[in-house]
Amino acid sequence: MDRIFSGAQPTGNLHLGNYLGAIRNWVALQKDFECVFCVVDLHAITVWQDPQELRSNIRELAASMIASGIDPQKHVLFNQSQVSAHAELAWIFNCVARIGWLNRMTQFKEKAGKNRENASLGLYAYPSLMAADILAYKATHVPVGEDQKQHLELTRDIAIKFNNDFGVDFFPTPEPLILGPATRVMSLREGTKKMSKSDTSDMSRLNMTDDADTLSRKIRKAKTDAEPLPSEAAGLEGRPEARNLVTIYAALMDQGVDAVLSEHGGTQFSGFKQALTDVVVDKLAPITTEMARLKNDIPYIDSVLSKGADRADAIAQPILREVKEIVGFLNR
Ligand code: TYM
Repeated sequence: MDRIFSGAQPTGNLHLGNYLGAIRNWVALQKDFECVFCVVDLHAITVWQDPQELRSNIRELAASMIASGIDPQKHVLFNQSQVSAHAELAWIFNCVARIGWLNRMTQFKEKAGKNRENASLGLYAYPSLMAADILAYKATHVPVGEDQKQHLELTRDIAIKFNNDFGVDFFPTPEPLILGPATRVMSLREGTKKMSKSDTSDMSRLNMTDDADTLSRKIRKAKTDAEPLPSEAAGLEGRPEARNLVTIYAALMDQGVDAVLSEHGGTQFSGFKQALTDVVVDKLAPITTEMARLKNDIPYIDSVLSKGADRADAIAQPILREVKEIVGFLNR
């Protein structure tokens, strides 16, 4: 049976890239798949998190998923650290994955930066935990933004090696689903850098919690070039900032880039930025308002996550028991 698994880190600053590259696609996939969505707090602590802020960010991320249209009644929405199968399976995968494989992970290199010796061991093993997230549910499809593609290839390698090592046909090799025009939303300050929660400049991203004035100011100040918009997609070549703004507009309007350019080609950025602001505010405002309301209802969010953890556990525990059997552990 086909099953979706995906997750996001509760590290604050949830932005339009997370929404367009992932959460919006998750919402649409609920119609055709059984879905499991996870707030991945174990991943978050691979870099330092203030405990107070982490607690609040976990609830805020769950609230934003529900406000965006994730249905926690029909599907499973939970918090990773509340389901022990993730950490347990990750350990087994740490013994399946090879150091050489992890050495190739570009995200570790980016996040660890120059001071690699001082990065946490958890940050290095991060993709192995991600494989455990997905395979603890034998998920078949994983909707993510483009930046997670390499991690998903590693998940597939781990599944294949586990099956080979133990001579079983146990884990599926999950398919990435990298959907829509906005699989890699770029920074508003630099069109060659992805929009990121950890960028030190808040002006680089459109946050899901920003009000209309802030969104408008950030879009007005977004970097562009001096030329008007081209009339077709080929004219965006070598113009990363222009491409990014057009792509965001196209994704929010559910249009192709060519359709956007045939309407707005020839206009100056000042005019296009106003049109973009209207669309961003129109689409995000209802989500932001609902998110703020839900976030304050702590008992509701906590009960959704707790029920979600029970349901996640019910799927993952029998799979983990079988894994332990295969590996040669004694089950109680
Ligand atoms: P995270 O929390 O960084 O991002 C959540 C989702 O948002 C996508 N995304 C983007 N998409 C388009 N443009 C961008 N600028 C952009 N920035 C982020 C990400 O691709 C992701 O889909 N490792 C994951 C979380 C994770 C996970 C998993 C995902 C843990 N276990 C298992 C899938 C399956 C992460 O850090 O996402």
